[in-house]
Amino acid sequence: MEENQRLAAITLRFVFEGKNVDQALLMALKTTKNIQVNQGAVKSYVYGVLRFGWQLKHIVSQLCKSPPSPLIENLLLIAIFQLVYTTDEPFTVVSQAVNAVAKLENPALKGFINAVLRTFLRGKDKILLAAQQNEESHFNHPQWWITKIKAQYPSLWSDILGEAQQRAPLTLRVNVQRISVEDYLQELAHHNIEVAWHNKEAIVLSAPCSVDQLPLFTQGAVSVQDLSAQYAKEHMDLFAHARVLDACAAPGGKTCHLLEQNEPIDLLVLDKSEDRLKKIQDNIKRLRLTEPSLGIKPFSAQNTHEWWDKVPFDRILLDAPCTGSGIVRRHPDIKWLRRESDIRQLVLEQKELLRSLWPLLKSQGKLVYATCSIFKEETSLQIRDFLQEHKDATLINGASPEDGFIRPDSFHDGFYYAVCQKI
Ligand SMILES: C[S@@+](CC[C@H](N)C(=O)[O-])C[C@H]1O[C@@H](n2cnc3c(N)ncnc32)[C@H](O)[C@@H]1O
Repeated sequence: MEENQRLAAITLRFVFEGKNVDQALLMALKTTKNIQVNQGAVKSYVYGVLRFGWQLKHIVSQLCKSPPSPLIENLLLIAIFQLVYTTDEPFTVVSQAVNAVAKLENPALKGFINAVLRTFLRGKDKILLAAQQNEESHFNHPQWWITKIKAQYPSLWSDILGEAQQRAPLTLRVNVQRISVEDYLQELAHHNIEVAWHNKEAIVLSAPCSVDQLPLFTQGAVSVQDLSAQYAKEHMDLFAHARVLDACAAPGGKTCHLLEQNEPIDLLVLDKSEDRLKKIQDNIKRLRLTEPSLGIKPFSAQNTHEWWDKVPFDRILLDAPCTGSGIVRRHPDIKWLRRESDIRQLVLEQKELLRSLWPLLKSQGKLVYATCSIFKEETSLQIRDFLQEHKDATLINGASPEDGFIRPDSFHDGFYYAVCQKI
């Protein structure tokens, strides 16, 4: 339906102006009264263009003599995405785009859209091959990002950038407080949902589906959480009645995983964003978990004088704010919204958080530093500096800070963990 393409084009305009996909989609939906809009289809066009946008933009620039307006360019990006990456019927894609342009901008552009898309279809193979020659359009990342990954991972860079263009699998975490993994696997089998792999509480599905289709989701049997993020619990090495701080906790994926474990813990949950803290409450409610015994509090973790009661912690989880460079296959808008200059500011924030929280740890206690970034400034270089500065800290999850890197692959987001123990 052309309305889906029109809304996707408007959503993309908001993303290219700096909004994330969720904000942009809400803004775009305000422009329609059509109740037949398929939000799933709109999202799939938007995600597709964000994932392959450099290649698609390169193609559009080759096909148009002069640059089209932003909305017309977006419409072409969407249609070409459909023609290259979906099984949508080419005739239908072109005719919908031709109809969409009339509502989007100007009926006089119908002929232009038709001509551009037909030229593409006639020369598709050659045009796609030519787009491979350009590094940005081959790897679908901004040039500064490609250059950085090349320099930091000389033997892995092209695999890393290749993985980041794939669609992420749907990975579940079973809430073992509510159901055993075996029973949930049976539930999935009853609903004909195929499982690709499972281990401990994690289940990777063979094909993504919406959470509404997952059995017992609203009853709190499972959460959606990437495998890499699920390793936090193991690194935390919890024990009964451990006093634990989850310092940057929202939306609460890891908090809930900690609460789902069988040993009761004394948990304090912080996040500086009150709005995001509400999401933790919602998750705890859906999963029917016991509220953290030390509370859920809206504080900046580094302002320890505002919230710390001077009783040291056995474990601290610092899932630090970061660029998110490891999770772009799940959130391809990150590739468009991040600026290279953001890294410096985030590195400073991470450093401050590490410095502020370390004194709150007991002797023999463990601090788990995690990021969903793969840029080394935020991961191994950050921890190298930390270990230099803190002679009472020992790294225990590897021989060197580089060992905490989780390489992105078909099952894993790019991630990083350092477990530092206090002497
Ligand atoms: C990577 S996210 C955490 C994800 C979360 N641990 C999970 O598993 O769902 C980082 C969080 O840190 C929060 N944050 C950033 N700076 C903070 C600070 N100084 N103190 C507390 N929270 C902070 C952000 O609001 C954001 O929710």
